[in-house]
Amino acid sequence: MTTLGTPLSPHATKVMLLGSGELGKEVLIALQRLGVETIAVDRYENAPGQQVAHHARTITMSDSAQLKALIEAERPHLVVPEIEAIATPMLEELEAAGTVRVIPTARAARLTMDREGIRVLAAETLGLPTSPYKFCDSLEELQAAIDGGIGYPCVVKPVMSSSGKGQSKIDGPADVQKAWDYAMAGGRVSHGRVIVEGFIDFDYEITQLTVRSVGADGQIVTSFCDPIGHVQVSGDYVESWQPHPMHPAALEKSRQIAKAVTDNLGGQGLFGVELFVKGEQVWFSEVSPRPHDTGLVTLCTQHQSEFELHARAILGLPVDTSLRNPGASAVIYGGVDAVGIVFDGVEEALRVPDTDLRLFGKPESFTKRRMGVALARATDVDTARSNAKLAASKVKPRKAQG
Ligand SMILES: Nc1ncnc2c1ncn2[C@@H]1O[C@H](COP(=O)(O)OP(=O)(O)O)[C@@H](O)[C@H]1O
Ligand SMILES: [Mg+2]
Repeated sequence: MTTLGTPLSPHATKVMLLGSGELGKEVLIALQRLGVETIAVDRYENAPGQQVAHHARTITMSDSAQLKALIEAERPHLVVPEIEAIATPMLEELEAAGTVRVIPTARAARLTMDREGIRVLAAETLGLPTSPYKFCDSLEELQAAIDGGIGYPCVVKPVMSSSGKGQSKIDGPADVQKAWDYAMAGGRVSHGRVIVEGFIDFDYEITQLTVRSVGADGQIVTSFCDPIGHVQVSGDYVESWQPHPMHPAALEKSRQIAKAVTDNLGGQGLFGVELFVKGEQVWFSEVSPRPHDTGLVTLCTQHQSEFELHARAILGLPVDTSLRNPGASAVIYGGVDAVGIVFDGVEEALRVPDTDLRLFGKPESFTKRRMGVALARATDVDTARSNAKLAASKVKPRKAQG
């Protein structure tokens, strides 16, 4: 049974978000609506989620001593990782000591913090179909892996990276050195390890949002959202829509894969399972044990967005994953490198029928930083996609004058 408290009282239900970007912000808002006391943690001040939480804390989350000190000082009931670069072994220690419950589990946070733990689990332990892959620690090992069976084309990614950072495709021998150098410059922690994957020539890719929540009988139940289609440019999501039409056999396989991975990771919460699909063939790519960026579209398509689903599931509350209407999302990039930018054209954007916007409130803009998203609902996905893109194009971020 779940009992919720009153925030800022001795009986508050306290939840700490580790990472407070645009996805964390929406989770925090969903928690606030249920009267949960929220603590938003990030590595910089005034992160989007910190602007809507009861408490804001700024620490280096990859530093175990800082992380431990903060969790012990705040004593939240739940710790909810929103990003990958966290001192997850410390979370495992604190969870094992009974200090805190980590969402979905500390082990899941550790296995998904880099590409290696989760890929080895999916491909080798669970035997799920994935692209052929090898982990390499030098340019020589990379070349040997490609020559030894991965072949061309292939994709190289730093083991520790997200949003396509340091990722590139290799079409032939002439690209290998360049891809290695690019990965070394783009990794989050410069320990020089990469994964090289055979390139999968998929028809389309989807995110299968999967929720583990507590059912009426107290047992964990797994529910699936409708598949989300998306377009990635240089490894970063630019557009997503829901539902993505799928062959029933491919949908069935996708859900079997999603169930196998999320059963193993365990705990409660929402997961974003990334899959490649070609005809009836499905490959597991990766999984986020938390809301997924392509799932921003659910803010306008589902009765409960992925953020509300996550909030409910982690609190032990029932969930409803059903679709309300088709819809789409389109990313708004900063376009400029500047602090405290302004946005022109918001009213033109919102004049596009059946649209909505999220401007994340990030204190600093970079050319390729995601600063907002346009959302559009419609009776069909094509209309929603063109309206979302149109609305996004009307928003013009720029440097503030004076
Ligand atoms: N092996 C692959 N074959 C084909 N496309 C790939 C492969 N790996 C990645 N991609 C493309 O790059 C995108 C980002 O890769 P992903 O592994 O999801 O990295 P990230 O963790 O940065 O999201 C994928 O969504 C897909 O479009
Ligand atoms: Mg991805």
